[in-house]
Amino acid sequence: MIGTEIFTPGAQELIYGHEMITSLKGHAPNSTILCGNLGGPEIPGFETHKIVTINDKKVLITAIIDPILDKKAIHGLQVTDPLSALEKILETPHDLAIAVLHFSDAKARRLVRRIAGLDIAILGTQRGTMKESELINGCWLIKNNNHGKTIGYLDWDFTTGSPSTAKLIQINKLAYDADPKITELVDESEEWLRQHYVEIEKNKNEADDDLTVKVPYVGSHACSTCHPQITTSWQKTGHARAYASLQKKCKDFCPDCLPCHVTGSREHDKQGFRSPTATPDLFNIQCEECHGPAEDHIKDPKLPYGLKIEASTCSICHTANNDPEFFFEDDVKLIIH
Ligand code: HEC
Ligand code: HEC
Ligand code: HEC
Ligand code: HEC
Repeated sequence: MIGTEIFTPGAQELIYGHEMITSLKGHAPNSTILCGNLGGPEIPGFETHKIVTINDKKVLITAIIDPILDKKAIHGLQVTDPLSALEKILETPHDLAIAVLHFSDAKARRLVRRIAGLDIAILGTQRGTMKESELINGCWLIKNNNHGKTIGYLDWDFTTGSPSTAKLIQINKLAYDADPKITELVDESEEWLRQHYVEIEKNKNEADDDLTVKVPYVGSHACSTCHPQITTSWQKTGHARAYASLQKKCKDFCPDCLPCHVTGSREHDKQGFRSPTATPDLFNIQCEECHGPAEDHIKDPKLPYGLKIEASTCSICHTANNDPEFFFEDDVKLIIH
């Protein structure tokens, strides 16, 4: 419906499986589905890279995904080594090489540092945006993943080999009405997706890390005996109801939403919440999200405990993108006990 020419599936799309993704071509015959390290070119319908000629310049486009996504999401598709796949693709003659990297921010940067000859890397998985593009190892890094709220725009100057304009265009919410056909498709796919995640959770077995790993988080019910007033005060905040907000939107299993509506998520480099089935005690923004894992504290409360709480404690969730009005000094007063 949008008329996209090149489609670079990430974890969210790959969970639909190979058949579903390639069937999209039936709707958009002129589109190319790119993934540079997905079992190689033998997967029908997928291509490793594409050359687009613009004003006599050969622009090479590819997309590389993190093998970790393999475990998380992908149905019967195999992810190969990112570095060697990218090196091989870059051997194709070109004037400009662009890769969409479906990696965490830190891993994408590591890959860019190790690879020679990439001109533009679009960070395709991380939330948030970059105000300026950033140059690492001769490659311009660009990030504009803002849940569809912005579109990244870049002009490339072949004489200097650098961008002449790089900006983010804000999509004005008021400038268009939701198309009922698209709204219906979105609702339908969200229900489908929820069922899919529920199925993944059901099929987890004892061998799964998620279920066997022991986490140092104990949950807020373990605090109420010694800190009863504070627990009551916390229960009145939105933090104690953050998971219910996802349930209301049918998004309570969605990996895109969970990290900021649970306690100690892996996506925030913490060792708490792992999945709705594995850690059902860690829904909502509980005490340990701000104060840190309390396993040792509840055993011996006299030992030093408690992280220093500052603006960065909150800004992992209250980001400029999703809560632009957030101001630490004022907002902390609303949640303090
Ligand atoms: C067995 C009783 C007990 C339990 C259970 C308990 N605490 Fe405490 N907590 C204490 C005591 C006592 C202190 C004061 C320690 C001190 O000042 O020496 C304390 C202090 C704290 C502090 C302040 C630390 C500081 O240095 O200012 C925080 C934060 C805290 N607890 C959070 C929690 C959280 C979160 C939980 C639940 C995961 C919890 N506590 C469970 C007894 C407990
Ligand atoms: C793990 C993510 C996360 C962290 C960390 C976090 N918040 Fe929140 N916060 C949320 C979510 C999600 C909501 C919305 C909850 C709802 O209503 O569903 C919220 C709501 C709030 C609200 C709305 C008031 C209310 O009671 O409804 C305030 C104020 C707030 N947070 C302040 C803070 C402050 C201050 C910090 C840091 C000390 C912080 N938050 C840390 C996720 C987080
Ligand atoms: C980067 C962290 C983050 C992610 C990811 C996130 N949220 Fe939130 N969410 C927040 C914060 C912070 C708030 C509270 C501030 C606000 O209301 O703007 C919030 C508030 C909400 C609320 C409003 C609660 C209310 O009724 O006032 C809903 C609903 C919600 N989120 C749903 C979602 C859904 C659905 C997703 C996934 C598509 C999602 N969130 C992903 C951080 C996040
Ligand atoms: C959104 C973040 C957040 C959450 C969630 C949270 N706290 Fe706190 N807590 C704070 C802040 C901020 C302070 C102020 C002291 C500081 O800056 O360390 C504080 C202080 C405390 C103190 C020390 C109070 C004192 O008077 O010295 C205790 C104990 C405590 N919290 C326990 C809890 C418990 C128990 C829960 C869960 C029921 C909880 N907190 C949930 C942010 C949080």
